[in-house]
Amino acid sequence: MDVIPQPPSSWDINPADFPRRGTGTDRLRFLIRYALLAPSTRNTQPWRFRVTTDCVELHLDLSRWQRIADADQREMFISLGCALENLLIAATHFGYRTAADYLSGVDDDTPVVRVRFEAGGVTGTAPDARFEVITRRRTNHGVYDGTAVPREELARLSESCIEPGLELHWITDDVGRAKLDALVMRADAVLLSDADYRHELGEIIGTGAFGTPWVIATLGRFAVSHLMPASRFSKADHKALMSSPAIGVICAPASTRQGQVRVGQVLERLYLAATLRGLALQPVSQVLQLDETREGLSALLPGRSGVPLQPFRLGHAAPPRTHTPRRSLDDVLR
Ligand SMILES: Cc1cc2nc3c(=O)[nH]c(=O)nc-3n(C[C@H](O)[C@H](O)[C@H](O)COP(=O)(O)O)c2cc1C
Repeated sequence: MDVIPQPPSSWDINPADFPRRGTGTDRLRFLIRYALLAPSTRNTQPWRFRVTTDCVELHLDLSRWQRIADADQREMFISLGCALENLLIAATHFGYRTAADYLSGVDDDTPVVRVRFEAGGVTGTAPDARFEVITRRRTNHGVYDGTAVPREELARLSESCIEPGLELHWITDDVGRAKLDALVMRADAVLLSDADYRHELGEIIGTGAFGTPWVIATLGRFAVSHLMPASRFSKADHKALMSSPAIGVICAPASTRQGQVRVGQVLERLYLAATLRGLALQPVSQVLQLDETREGLSALLPGRSGVPLQPFRLGHAAPPRTHTPRRSLDDVLR
């Protein structure tokens, strides 16, 4: 995968620059700048956009697929859902009515989602505070401060889970968190004993995708691919997980492509709602990358009726100082 360029302007979008007098295509391109700021697995940004005057199609970019870590492409489709959600929130902010069709795209050429835009369709609605934080959201990979997130706060966050058929479950008790921690440790040990898994992770670190300077990224690529003992990763993951007072798990009726995209939409809504409340969030995906630990996670959620598709941890922490880089708009337009 190519080294990701770091245009300083990616996160610096001024809504006043929305090209109201431009063409329909210009306006939709402007909205896509918000979609690009979505989180994605390993910051791969596995998306491309095709724009016409009243329609945006979201396509996969299979050249960015993490074939070892994300063998079933679940995380890639969830990432697309995150980008879709930003696009829809931005569209509503600028007064569009939208209709999203979930299609069957499984290759680069077939769209995964087609969104139709009707200008001037939404009037008189209260401004959506989530729009304001799209440019402030970021994943917090650090250790959290351990203070509890009150039940009422979790209940408010659960209101983000409005996609049909999806459920959000919380694990907040010490026993449940310790069991999840054991699953994460197991997943780390198995996955990191695979040289191909390490190589793939080392390669993406080496592109600078996580926002590290070139020298650190290059050293990181080498260390992850060849040197670092698995126990270093597990220790860091253990510390991070046990510092998190709440673990959320988004479940869907089945692991279908449409379900995965909708899980991504909910994940992004949760990220934005957490940002608004000053909470830190980080997806914890490795437990779903291994059959054995995926089953273990399902067993931890006795009340669920669907399958777990995205776990994440939540808590309080100082926000990271920098944003991760993004591909440029030109790079992702088809
Ligand atoms: C589907 C999905 C899975 C992810 N899984 C993990 C994960 O297992 N561990 C992690 O630290 N971050 C995970 N992330 C967060 C990404 O690393 C992060 O979004 C990306 O590096 C971009 O950074 P940002 O979210 O700060 O913009 C995941 C994100 C998505 C959308």
